[in-house]
Amino acid sequence: HDQGLSQTPPMGWNSWNTFGCDIDEGLIRDTADAMVTSGMAAAGYEYVNLDDCWMAHTRDSNGDLVANTTRFPSGMAALAEYVHDQGLEIGLYESAGTEPCASENNQYSAPGCLNNEYNDANTFARWGIDYLKYDNCGGHGGQSAWERFLRMSDALDQSGRDIVYSQCSWGQEGAEWTWAWRHGANLWRTTADITDSWDEGKSACDNNFFMGVTDIVDFQDCEDMHRYANWGHWNDPDMLEVGNPGLSETESRAHFGMWCLMAAPLIAGNDLRNMSQSTVDVLTNQEVVDVDQDPAGVQGRKVRDDGDREVWAKPLVDNEVAVGLFNRGSSSATISTMAAEVGLPSATDYVVRDLHAHTESISSGGISASVPAHGLALFRVTVNSGGADTRPTEYLS
Ligand code: DGJ
Repeated sequence: HDQGLSQTPPMGWNSWNTFGCDIDEGLIRDTADAMVTSGMAAAGYEYVNLDDCWMAHTRDSNGDLVANTTRFPSGMAALAEYVHDQGLEIGLYESAGTEPCASENNQYSAPGCLNNEYNDANTFARWGIDYLKYDNCGGHGGQSAWERFLRMSDALDQSGRDIVYSQCSWGQEGAEWTWAWRHGANLWRTTADITDSWDEGKSACDNNFFMGVTDIVDFQDCEDMHRYANWGHWNDPDMLEVGNPGLSETESRAHFGMWCLMAAPLIAGNDLRNMSQSTVDVLTNQEVVDVDQDPAGVQGRKVRDDGDREVWAKPLVDNEVAVGLFNRGSSSATISTMAAEVGLPSATDYVVRDLHAHTESISSGGISASVPAHGLALFRVTVNSGGADTRPTEYLS
């Protein structure tokens, strides 16, 4: 399926983390407006995604999906047009089963897409939908996940519209990270639902409701998931909780930086209509976003683990490396690494750029910072060439 989409991790917003089933067209329009006026669109955010509970309770007389007419009286095509007019794209949610999750959990009632994939993909295309988050709830009709998710992938292809395909089966169907990309998922959820907490106390390889920031980081690391991310195909550690009540400012900044080091989709999960300046600053820090969006498309990984103090490295284009010094502990700590440990070429000295302070220093190889409790220091490190272009010659011609 991948259609050449999401060559870098997709960026946008999703309704679920803050609003759950309480969504309507006014919220979506205001969110699209806020994405533009807050500066998020300029920073690269583009998808405005409706999660569960947008559907009418039943299909129409043609068997087509329709939007809930009380909450979306103008209809989905009109809403898509509004979002497109703001220069943005729109996403919807559905499920590869007989009903979506909120319906299965008796919070709502709606049909799923099982055995209606080709018709439903055509409906999404006709409305102008650009992104589909496809969940795994409801009855599966005795069909494997592979079969069900592949059929929607094919249906999206045949719909004739470019639609990003976000698979959401989070470890229920084996190790999705090893197979979802083969049938063209642009991203696949790796873990159970995130909650706005730093740590839910899970062991490193435990994937279970609910996951805090560090639990998700640990699970991806436990499974060495960085091996499966590349252009058009991304591990999805779930939507952001930046700016939500359960995380402090420092924790939100660390959560965002870690998601960028993990080349994660950056899908904000807060209320964009009411953001503090610090939340806007975290979400729109362009130098940090650029780590996530780096065209090399390589997911970072942990290169050192000293208990609460970790060192993370993400290779970037042109032999640069993003380096994260991650303090999981409850008191501030000095964390240090060396150029060689994070995979930089050997050199006399390096330019170390602090992506939060936006300052630079020259180092002979040591990279070190005092990091607050539950904090992340984030750097972009480059061989100091004194201004000369050090890229391999094949890139210079
Ligand atoms: C389960 C998913 O993991 C969540 O992200 C959300 O989409 C809910 N389903 C909606 O019911």
